Amino acid sequence: MKTTSNASLKPYNTFGIDARAKVLCEVHSIGDLREALALAGSETQMMILGGGSNILFTSDYDGMVILNRIDGISVVDEDEIHVYVRAGGGEPWHGLVRWCVERNYGGMENMSLIPGCVGAGPIQNIGAYGRELKDIFFELDAVHIETGKVRTFSLADCSFGYRESIFKKKYRDQYVIAMVTFRLDKDPVVDTKYGSISDELAKRGIEKPTIRDVSDVVIAIRQSKLPETDVLGNAGSFFKNPEIPADEFEAIRKKYPEARGFPGNGGKIKLYAGWLIEQCGWKGKRVGNTGAHKDQALVLVNYGGATGQEILDLAGRIRESVKKQFGVEMEMEVNLV
Ligand code: EPU
Repeated sequence: MKTTSNASLKPYNTFGIDARAKVLCEVHSIGDLREALALAGSETQMMILGGGSNILFTSDYDGMVILNRIDGISVVDEDEIHVYVRAGGGEPWHGLVRWCVERNYGGMENMSLIPGCVGAGPIQNIGAYGRELKDIFFELDAVHIETGKVRTFSLADCSFGYRESIFKKKYRDQYVIAMVTFRLDKDPVVDTKYGSISDELAKRGIEKPTIRDVSDVVIAIRQSKLPETDVLGNAGSFFKNPEIPADEFEAIRKKYPEARGFPGNGGKIKLYAGWLIEQCGWKGKRVGNTGAHKDQALVLVNYGGATGQEILDLAGRIRESVKKQFGVEMEMEVNLV
């Protein structure tokens, strides 16, 4: 376990915000993690950081930041249909996806190139191109922050929803996800329903895609419109896609016939936040060192040297203009610290 005082968090958050932590502690095993949690008891506050890809530091952190670097990927069980793959919470997500794709274990390929670490995946039930983590989740082991006890959570225990889980609600800030087990298909069935995947496969003349083809195509699509975090600081989608009542959607459609929506929860309609932001004129717009990306307006970027507060101010202005123009409230997807 490595501990550093007054550490810069810049290398550990994909927005590239230069905030500082009073203490930074890197853990490589469940044993390390428990030790760090015990030490953290004497600090005023404590937080866990994985890939730092869904976080915005708006000030320095006056407490202990624990970097989850618990690694390892292995097959722990199998039956005729499935293989069970267990991965450390500190493993980079995309590395795990490619590990599975190379072995022809199906189910993760649509979620290629999502930034971040495995342990953060279940917290917001990450998803992309028609698939979500919950579709391949089997169970996870988490350490209870107060007692250090390890608890296993099944699929039902996690209460997954759209970018939601029990770890964002009832158990918020109570557990650290140490290991996650996924249930994957030995005889994969590809899911290419998402428009841009089928278009790109057709363009490449691939009629019977393998999971490797799907993974490659998803990587290409993401690279074509999502800025790489080592080039331009960002945290992927900044807001969630908002859900609104059907009658409000119809009212928007009257004014904007091209508005697209799809079924959300409880009869509501989900709108594309990227479209709303673009309609308000923010796409590609720069404000100081911040801006909304030119190819995907839902992604807010740090052009270099921006503070977290500047990004937050931009987000506030975007939110206000969407509210004013469409009457729609957007919720943040990124976590604020
Ligand atoms: N759109 C615009 N203008 C924009 C951006 C998007 O009009 O500037 C419209 C277009 O019509 C486009 C549609 O929005 O076809 C959907 O865009 P996209 O396929 O990029 O998906 P998204 O709904 O904006 C969601 C996830 C992404 C995930 C993609 C692909 C959320 C909040 N975001 O974005 O996840 O990669 O689908 O499945 O659900 C993330 O969570 O950080 C993330 C990147």
